[in-house]
Amino acid sequence: MSTQNKTHRRTILDIKKMKDTGEKITMLTAYDYSMSLLLDECDIDILLVGDSLGNVVLGYDTTLPVTMEDMLHHTKAVARGAQRALIVADMPFMSYQVSPQAALANAGRFLQEANAQAVKLEGGKEQSDAVYKITSSGIPVMAHLGLTPQSIHQIGGYKVQGKKEDAAEKMMDDARILEEAGAFSLVLECVPGKLAQDITQSISIPTIGIGAGIHCNGQVLVVNDMLGTYERMTPKFVKKYANLNQEIRKAVKNYISEVKNETFPDAEHSFK
Ligand code: KIV
Repeated sequence: MSTQNKTHRRTILDIKKMKDTGEKITMLTAYDYSMSLLLDECDIDILLVGDSLGNVVLGYDTTLPVTMEDMLHHTKAVARGAQRALIVADMPFMSYQVSPQAALANAGRFLQEANAQAVKLEGGKEQSDAVYKITSSGIPVMAHLGLTPQSIHQIGGYKVQGKKEDAAEKMMDDARILEEAGAFSLVLECVPGKLAQDITQSISIPTIGIGAGIHCNGQVLVVNDMLGTYERMTPKFVKKYANLNQEIRKAVKNYISEVKNETFPDAEHSFK
């Protein structure tokens, strides 16, 4: 049950409060204006302009080729569509790793040029200086641990993280360090449910899970995965709430056949 006044734009204070009240946080990715309008109308709490757009929108194999310009372009479109959701822009590969100063300059562009209200970046202790630099300049940061796709070549594949004791301990330490550095929330991707639960109970900021079980304070999915419009790779944690590809194929085949056999456009769709 919702305990919030949701007529205004969600702020990071609303999101943090949801952890305290026990109301689950909902987050979906969005990459364009029309999807943003639709998801915002459904009253989603957070829209993440994920660098997963590299896979589902731009057709790359990984998120590594995604640039600042790609992310700004799509964040601007999403921001034009949403009135109520908190808009979080994903910082692309190499936009925050080089130095905390570069991280701050790039994070600032998302708020100044693209109308986002927060940024997200991947990594733990190694990125905590960047998180501190950005948050202490007044820009909210969502952190991201577990499977961090920008490190795919180091991780060696899309697999569950934190299964071994030392890896689980490091993730727990990283979560605390990121909270300390000022992050307002933490995405946990592909993490065993018990570890996600322990992390969620050990920090005061909300956790948002993707493949991290039921005990996170919120959940996120890639919108194309949950609507069934991206079929190239479907991880185990994705629940398909619709199979829109089937609907789209049906509609397009219908259109092609009506154009070919001259039943479209009919009188109703033509001018006298
Ligand atoms: O880029 C993205 O969409 C993400 C989510 C999967 C959390 O980082």
